[in-house]
Amino acid sequence: MGAAASEFVVVANRLPVDLERLPDGTTRWKRSPGGLVTALEPILRGNSGAWVGWPGVADTALEPSVEDGIDMHPVALSAQEVADYYEGFSNATLWPLYHDVIVRPEYRREWWDAYVEVNRRFAEETAKAAAEGATVWIQDYQLQLVPKMLRMLRPDLTIGFFLHIPFPPVELFMQMPWRTEIVEGLLGADLIGFHLPGGAENFLFLARRLLGHQTSRGTVGVRSRLGVVQVGFRTVRVGAFPISIASGSLDELSRRKSVRDRAKQIRRELGNPKKVMLGVDRLDYTKGIDVRLDALHELIAEGRVDPAETVMVQLATPSRERVESYVQMRGEIEMTVSRINGEYAEVGRPVVHYIHRPIPREELIAFFVAADVMLVTPLRDGMNLVAKEYVACRSDLGGALVLSEFTGAAAELRQAFLCNPHDLEDVKDKMEAALDQPREDGRRHMRAMRRQVLTHDVDRWAKAFLTALARDSVAGAALMPA
Ligand code: ADP
Ligand code: F6P
Repeated sequence: MGAAASEFVVVANRLPVDLERLPDGTTRWKRSPGGLVTALEPILRGNSGAWVGWPGVADTALEPSVEDGIDMHPVALSAQEVADYYEGFSNATLWPLYHDVIVRPEYRREWWDAYVEVNRRFAEETAKAAAEGATVWIQDYQLQLVPKMLRMLRPDLTIGFFLHIPFPPVELFMQMPWRTEIVEGLLGADLIGFHLPGGAENFLFLARRLLGHQTSRGTVGVRSRLGVVQVGFRTVRVGAFPISIASGSLDELSRRKSVRDRAKQIRRELGNPKKVMLGVDRLDYTKGIDVRLDALHELIAEGRVDPAETVMVQLATPSRERVESYVQMRGEIEMTVSRINGEYAEVGRPVVHYIHRPIPREELIAFFVAADVMLVTPLRDGMNLVAKEYVACRSDLGGALVLSEFTGAAAELRQAFLCNPHDLEDVKDKMEAALDQPREDGRRHMRAMRRQVLTHDVDRWAKAFLTALARDSVAGAALMPA
């Protein structure tokens, strides 16, 4: 354990920063992609804890170090492990299986073996980083076996697990050849958190069905009414904790003069169109970038949107670029962008502005402030923080949010233009309604959504989870036989 052992440890596939190798051979840290880091980084900074994770490049062994006030414990992965554990089992098996099999999950035994091996290494590194009796919070689908492995190494620890992506319907989960091992792995935690009650209830069913454990059977509440699973003498709790963002600081940043000036400048650079529509995503097939592009294409073709007055900006961070389904999706999206521009753009005035690289935080906020309509159209998404970020940035009560019903955020942002991304006519209608929304209606909707996002920030999420984790009683939970 050593003197530097920490009382609070976050364990995630990635460190909050990725190591970048520059052409001159030197290295530097850059922010890691995705919602998990957006949510957890501010919390860990405020708790002076440790973070165990992969530095984002293969075959790189690094010593623990303190970066930006966080005690970093890098876990090295070989190039083969990146291919089998990260690109393979995590992102070509679990990711599509947990996202409604939008693409077909591949079940390969060598990927599973690598997943077990890498989860073991994460458990061992965490066992070294955690102080006696520490609280350890394990994150996401890449590390579902770590709770059990860590409990075997360190029974003194309090262990929480949170899943940042959807937990699938039972019928889909049952496809998984290693379904029992995964449920068993998760049950090593004291508390297992999901975004939505439905995910928690699916998990309780599987704990009964696959492992024969006694569980509670009532509905699970949001931040309340936890479910329970009796695992021998241990009681594991299961709950719904919808994640959020640092909404207060985004609100504050978005009010700055520099950001508002930049937002105006962005509109000028876009040619001062009447309406600006915006998409902000990792380039992932779950995000429905193709859906919104197809909808825009048809709206223009039907004369319902005038390409001389309306532009769309799609900011897409590169993601998982060696996984085949991502390569394919990128090709399709880029073809559709070209097709729309080929048919409707004028010289110097594209209809779709597409940027395939990460955008610096302040610039992104300026885009949120500049956009009349935010397009969030995933086919499935655990939460979707982008929807919440847009709302937090609209202190002017301007703007409109088109939001897929298939995101966790849709359960909280009921005043958005909710749409079914599988129904293109519905998406088109909601995009058109958002573009034409009367100002007063828009202000009313935005005010209500802002109330939700500003009162339910990421601190509240973390506090709700960690308070439940610290509580060892299971008051009120009714156990039923398997
Ligand atoms: P996921 O975790 O699946 O990537 P989320 O919407 O929950 O999806 O979180 C994505 C995070 O990444 C948000 O904080 C968002 O602002 C950020 N992000 C997404 N696209 C970009 C981009 N093009 N440039 C910079 N940041 C981005
Ligand atoms: O929130 C889902 C998630 O998969 C995180 O676990 C992850 O850090 C983020 O998206 C980005 O994905 P990746 O780490 O594969 O680039």
